[in-house]
Amino acid sequence: MSPNALYTDLSGYYDLMCADIDYQAQSTSVSRLHKLFGNDGKRHLDLACGTGPHLRRFIDFGYSCHGLDINQPMLDRALQRCPEAQFAQLDMCNFRFEQSFDLITCFLYSIHYSNGLDALRSCIQSAHSALSANGVFCFNAVDKTKIDNTRFVGHSTTHEDNTFVFRSGWHYEGSGDRQSLKLSIQKLTDDTSQLWHDEHAMVALSFADFSRLLAPYFDVHIFEHDYERILPWDGTSGNALFVCVKT
Ligand SMILES: C[S@@+](CC[C@H](N)C(=O)[O-])C[C@H]1O[C@@H](n2cnc3c(N)ncnc32)[C@H](O)[C@@H]1O
Repeated sequence: MSPNALYTDLSGYYDLMCADIDYQAQSTSVSRLHKLFGNDGKRHLDLACGTGPHLRRFIDFGYSCHGLDINQPMLDRALQRCPEAQFAQLDMCNFRFEQSFDLITCFLYSIHYSNGLDALRSCIQSAHSALSANGVFCFNAVDKTKIDNTRFVGHSTTHEDNTFVFRSGWHYEGSGDRQSLKLSIQKLTDDTSQLWHDEHAMVALSFADFSRLLAPYFDVHIFEHDYERILPWDGTSGNALFVCVKT
């Protein structure tokens, strides 16, 4: 399967795959962080917005929203969910808008889809340029040095008399700046079983590397990956929420 095929060929399964994600809690938490660190503006851009679950919440919070994604089938679904938003099919590593934004988000570790460290640098520069004064760039990330290749998360759900079993896990070889996200979808009906495997190459770096890349452009605050409470990163967790205020 080609890179990102999940989001094109299998875009219809995406929302089922994410059925266990608490989008409301994530969006509420990030809008709260934006109130604490940002400039009070309400112009929002979601990078790698997918089918628009976060955009839906931010619109409902009163933001004026734009969504950007590289895959048109995902954007088509996002537009159905968020007719009030504007969408653009663009690469998050090289984008430019006429207007500026007060909040730029990138959820579900999607910043790791940047195709290498140079592309990630360019994504950070694009986000910085697109933000207004004191604008906030907020994303979640995984530290390559803390990846446990044996760990998978999974859940199952039923849809139209089918059972779907989704599994995903990070894999890092232990050196270099590439990691992969391994995904599988199993569809079970009464008498058949279909299985798709998907593996996405993603950029790998430590949180110290992230901080170094962001420092020329932002004041960087790192928090625990906890959408219920705002806690400073404890220095050991492998997942974190970055809140970057434009300098
Ligand atoms: C894991 S999904 C996340 C979707 C959404 N943010 C969410 O939280 O549900 C990753 C998304 O990143 C998009 N994507 C991958 N590479 C991209 C790139 N270089 N620029 C923009 N979007 C990209 C995919 O098309 C897909 O919609």
